[in-house]
Amino acid sequence: MTNLSPRVLLFDSGVGGLSIAEAIWRQMPAMQLSYLADNAFFPYGDQPEKRVIERCVTLVQKALEDFPADMVVIGCNTASTVVLPSLRAAISLPVVGVVPAIKPAASLSRNRSIGLLATPATVDRPYIDRLIEEYASDCQIVRVGSSDLVRMAEASLEQGSVPVEGLRPIIEPFVQAKVDTVVLGCTHFPLVRSSLQQAMPETLNWVDSGEAIARRVQYLAEQQGVAVSLEGRAAHELLFTGNEPVGLDAWIARMGKGRCHLTTDFPGSQVTPRRGLIRSDG
Ligand code: DGL
Repeated sequence: MTNLSPRVLLFDSGVGGLSIAEAIWRQMPAMQLSYLADNAFFPYGDQPEKRVIERCVTLVQKALEDFPADMVVIGCNTASTVVLPSLRAAISLPVVGVVPAIKPAASLSRNRSIGLLATPATVDRPYIDRLIEEYASDCQIVRVGSSDLVRMAEASLEQGSVPVEGLRPIIEPFVQAKVDTVVLGCTHFPLVRSSLQQAMPETLNWVDSGEAIARRVQYLAEQQGVAVSLEGRAAHELLFTGNEPVGLDAWIARMGKGRCHLTTDFPGSQVTPRRGLIRSDG
């Protein structure tokens, strides 16, 4: 082990990637994170592919200039389904992407009826057709793309739940198709999993990609010879291209990551004028 401060740069359009941060910290409590959210341009699920690729690659490169990392995690399904080749060509670090957990869902479903809950962009991507063809060709996959739910989750970081009544129209196609398994194909959705479970109590399996990403991060860190199970203090940066999300302090406190303070500069970013840096030491 050569590096005592393993660090991951974790990217999303908003607070959704925090569900990946939780999964990483569950497995490696001392992993240091630089969290970068392009929330000035949120939600990505409504944006043209080309803009998502441009912004993601530019922002990640600029963040790495100021916050060097051992690897990059794109904690956003919408971006991952299009950006990985360009990002891997642009930087020399390992890049981990997150894609909807169709494969594990297919191995769990008993009635072969599966719901895919993601952004409108993700549900339509050819990448998803290929995943289904490869791993779930014997299943009925009901696709629901909802930017409304992404917005609801983005706004509910403080309480970690959304009103169940508001979910009913979104999940209705799943209820009609009697799916027994739902893939949370957007990293925002594990943040409101308990509300979704309340709205569809008969669903047997709720599958997301958090643990798989954490395992991949651990594997890559070990390959690089960095220590991943350190106890003790770690510093985490949280960088936003837009305003600080409501409820961030509450989330940091829930994670047990100690006090944080806000500075107002993200020196690497030229992409948007408004920049925030919150440093959490704990
Ligand atoms: N959290 C993201 C995802 O996993 C993006 C949501 C959005 O910005 O539309 O797809």
